[in-house]
Amino acid sequence: MQAIAEIADRISTISVSSTLKVSADADRLRRQGVDVVDFGAGEPDFPTPANIKQAAIEAINANFTKYTNAGGTPELRDAICQRHKLDFGTSYSASECMVTVGGKHAIFNLIQALVNPGDEVIIPVPYWVTYKDVVNYAGGTCVFVDTEETRGFEVTAGLIERHITPKTKLVIINSPSNPSGSVLSPEEFKKIFELTSRRGVFLLTDECYCQFVYEGQPFSIASAPGAKETIVVAGSLSKTYAMTGWRIGFALAPAAIIGAMMKLQSHSTSNPTSIAQKAAIEAMLGSQDSVPEMLAEYRRRRDFVVQRLLAIPGVSIAPPKGAFYAYPNISIAYRSGRIRNSLDFAAQLLAEHHVAVVPGEAFGTDEHVRISYATSMHELTRGLDRLHQFIDTLRV
Ligand SMILES: Cc1ncc(COP(=O)(O)O)c(C=O)c1O
Repeated sequence: MQAIAEIADRISTISVSSTLKVSADADRLRRQGVDVVDFGAGEPDFPTPANIKQAAIEAINANFTKYTNAGGTPELRDAICQRHKLDFGTSYSASECMVTVGGKHAIFNLIQALVNPGDEVIIPVPYWVTYKDVVNYAGGTCVFVDTEETRGFEVTAGLIERHITPKTKLVIINSPSNPSGSVLSPEEFKKIFELTSRRGVFLLTDECYCQFVYEGQPFSIASAPGAKETIVVAGSLSKTYAMTGWRIGFALAPAAIIGAMMKLQSHSTSNPTSIAQKAAIEAMLGSQDSVPEMLAEYRRRRDFVVQRLLAIPGVSIAPPKGAFYAYPNISIAYRSGRIRNSLDFAAQLLAEHHVAVVPGEAFGTDEHVRISYATSMHELTRGLDRLHQFIDTLRV
């Protein structure tokens, strides 16, 4: 029997995450002794703050090492609601909250709980890779909304309205955005919410990078009056508290949706790790000092990266207003004839100059690559020198 022929059809609706593939390629080179600069990983280079680590150590010593409620401990769910209220002025209660194994898992659960085969899901481009695959896995149809680089990739209510049909079930907004770093103004976000609620469509707001904004204040659309009925929030502790490996995320949504997600989670992962949940309570309710410290450092790096990219003739960039990614347009390199698309660009940059970036094709635009600046100034300097050199060698 050929194992490949036996794989269930629904697995063919998804592909390997390109961001993970880049990391694997870079890792392979590194293991061969190559000096790779890695701009691929979307992961803070900061350690998890000490108070959070200490809470986990105490949890282990107190033998808090057993199963918990599938959707997380009541204590953590309360803490998440409290943090969201303190940060954004929302008013969720524990029955409208669940803890998940990372923010990605919250998105997976939410989409599986909401989307029926044939339902349309509106996704602005460029998008975070996972949305597309998870919608496809649920049998839904992705409806992509193009945005413009010259307008900072900002999505507008007008653009979304043009794509709403009677089949639309959900609109996904990720602000600050991975990969472009674009940030929706609260005014435009409210217009999008008014539109979706008027048209009876759910709005999924992915708040993974919500604390990392360089202009204005962090904002959650879930604080808008009447938002709780049709808004579903996917949150993550991964980036805000440099906790990627701990795998703690959460969802805030109407209790009926949380109930459906919980049912699914109870038959897949069960609860997120008990120890990580204790650490997450400290993240939510303990000192928040590390967050502005990380933001200040990301801002410094953002300014440096933008300035270095703009110094490369022919390269353009919409300056990121949030998150920790730069998304330059490198299509000038395609004129050389040696490179046809962003996949070629990323592959040759890695093979010849040993810099890992993620091809824009993974995010729905083929003229760009994603650079993560969640890495040291030293690495940024080395990598951007090499990138500049690479594009110079391609000039015709
Ligand atoms: C836009 C966005 N949403 C959600 C996530 C999920 O993060 P995690 O599963 O580590 O919480 C990521 C991670 O890269 C992301 O970039």
